[in-house]
Amino acid sequence: MAAAKRKKILAGNWKMHGTLADARALARGLAERVGKLEDREVVLGPPFTALAAVLEAVKGTRITVAAQNMHWEEKGAFTGEVSPLMLRDLGVQQVILGHSERREIFGESDEWIQKKVASALAHDLAVILCVGETLAQRDAGETLKVVSGQVEAALRGLGAEAKGRLTVAYEPVWAIGTGRVATREQAQEAHAEIRACLKGLGLPADEIRILYGGSVKPDNVDGLMAEPDIDGALVGGASLEVESFTRIVEYRA
Ligand code: 13P
Repeated sequence: MAAAKRKKILAGNWKMHGTLADARALARGLAERVGKLEDREVVLGPPFTALAAVLEAVKGTRITVAAQNMHWEEKGAFTGEVSPLMLRDLGVQQVILGHSERREIFGESDEWIQKKVASALAHDLAVILCVGETLAQRDAGETLKVVSGQVEAALRGLGAEAKGRLTVAYEPVWAIGTGRVATREQAQEAHAEIRACLKGLGLPADEIRILYGGSVKPDNVDGLMAEPDIDGALVGGASLEVESFTRIVEYRA
């Protein structure tokens, strides 16, 4: 499938931001501005506490809603965790897994992330799997090895269940929240590596969307989106305001 055939995804990861009132206002504003677009997908990732309110605010639009994490078990003695059944029960359609903040700050291992990906897909939740190298790893020339290692570890054993429901986000850790965006060439190189890795795993690599994340802003999104293997963006800070996220959704490539 040619790159142009992969429908672009513009996703906002709100991280730990916003009261219910903030979340409603942001979701309603975006529903109005970009809720009817058919040629691209718009995904909002509010914190758990705002999922229900955001789902309500985007009802009747084409915007979909993602959780930022989940446990792999359906239920049990896991204080503070949220299960795939709970997300499905709310009407959530997808989940961001393996974000570098989860890996680095909360110690999530490749093994956990693999279990989460398999569980989410088994519960009919689409997955946005995040991978990315640290600055030290990039400086040591290990970027492609690290990124392909994370992809392989997370997706090992997956088969047909991934079809249509798996997205990968390349998010170099040094670019997240730093204002230091990867160059188009750096991003494209990593995306091409990820696609080759997906192919090596026997997955439908030409159909799987690969998003770039890390300091995506209105003034750099157009260049990134022009690269052949960049199929969208996963946006943190600039997804928290209607104007800036609308401009990102309306990128011009
Ligand atoms: P920023 O866009 O704030 O750099 O965050 C990127 C990110 O981590 C999205 O998941």
